[in-house]
Amino acid sequence: MYKVTHNADLTRLTTFGITAGCGCLVEYESLEDLRLLAEEQPGLIQGEVFNLGGGSNVLFLDGWYAGTVLHCVGEDVSELAPEAISDTGEVFVGLRVQAGAKLDNLVDYSTHRGLWGLENLAAIPGCVGGAAVQNVGAYGAEFARCVTKVRAFDIDTRHPVELSVGQCEYGYRHSFFKTAAAARLAICEVEVRLSAKAAPRLGYSGIREALGDVTDDAATPALIAAAVREVRSAKLPDPAEVGSAGSYFKNPVVEAPYFRKVEDVWRAFCGRCGTAYVPVQHHTTDDGRVKLSAAWLIDKAGCKPFSVGGASLWPAQPLVIVNRDGHATAADILSLQNRVQDRVEEAFAIRLEPEVVRLSAAMR
Ligand code: EPU
Repeated sequence: MYKVTHNADLTRLTTFGITAGCGCLVEYESLEDLRLLAEEQPGLIQGEVFNLGGGSNVLFLDGWYAGTVLHCVGEDVSELAPEAISDTGEVFVGLRVQAGAKLDNLVDYSTHRGLWGLENLAAIPGCVGGAAVQNVGAYGAEFARCVTKVRAFDIDTRHPVELSVGQCEYGYRHSFFKTAAAARLAICEVEVRLSAKAAPRLGYSGIREALGDVTDDAATPALIAAAVREVRSAKLPDPAEVGSAGSYFKNPVVEAPYFRKVEDVWRAFCGRCGTAYVPVQHHTTDDGRVKLSAAWLIDKAGCKPFSVGGASLWPAQPLVIVNRDGHATAADILSLQNRVQDRVEEAFAIRLEPEVVRLSAAMR
């Protein structure tokens, strides 16, 4: 079954706590629902369409989107037939998950069955479809590492499509679904493959400490998920209390020669502004490029106290722009975004790229 609402209020479906609405909202559960929609009401999906997941990574710039918003509400999780034991003796369990399932519910479901793979992604807002688009990541894990297949409905051809994980072209906070070529695909189902074999990832600062007396050998997926929840709650705003879209900016990655320029610009900025110089925090990626911490850049550039109207930066994690008292407008958020980008660019010659999707009333 699908449900159509004209002139729908989307505020409750987004996490910024800023009023938003759309010309038409279609809530669907499955591929079959979208096939029926295309047959019965094709006019609804002929024009502008936006796929809304958990609404935890989107900002409606004008408070309104004129087109049709497709929103998956199917939340079923089913176990696939058991997979053969691999060469390495590893037993895998496949799960088929409808795109509207909350990612955190999937983490709960899998960790309480002792399955490994999703435990470090505990407490991330949003749904499984969004996680597959966005390749959400935290504490040394990325969703893409567990994905095997994504099923979507192509609203132009009106056919279901199935993408292997390779076809999803996953990278840091990136996938094929973020490209223009995939704009007409509505994700309906994701298959993930989890392992019964222990593979704790405890390297990220804070996780080991939060596990307390639990030794690495005794750590279970559920215990790690609980530790991740504890670390997150200390650093990040509680989505039930403070509106935000999580990390607002991506961590920048630059070519190695450009990083030398970044350091020079930063040294000169410190000299000009009387800021104490410290080397730029970074690490080298597998492909030889240099990844920087946006939070560190924002902090060191002196942006933490910035605020515009009701929008400010979360003190413990300035990568997150929050709707501090519930009265921020999209214009406040955008204006704060620009202020941060300008200051970081002045200090480091890097223009931070927002990871939050910003949607205008009409996209084209
Ligand atoms: N830092 C500062 N000042 C601060 C806070 C942090 O300099 O006030 C520096 C610290 O040096 C810290 C570094 O920032 O080492 C990194 O901070 P954090 O560990 O929180 O990780 P992140 O790279 O800023 C990413 C994800 C988060 C995810 C964390 C944990 C992105 C854009 N964000 O943040 O994802 O929870 O790692 O793994 O990659 C999200 O996407 O909504 C999100 C919260």
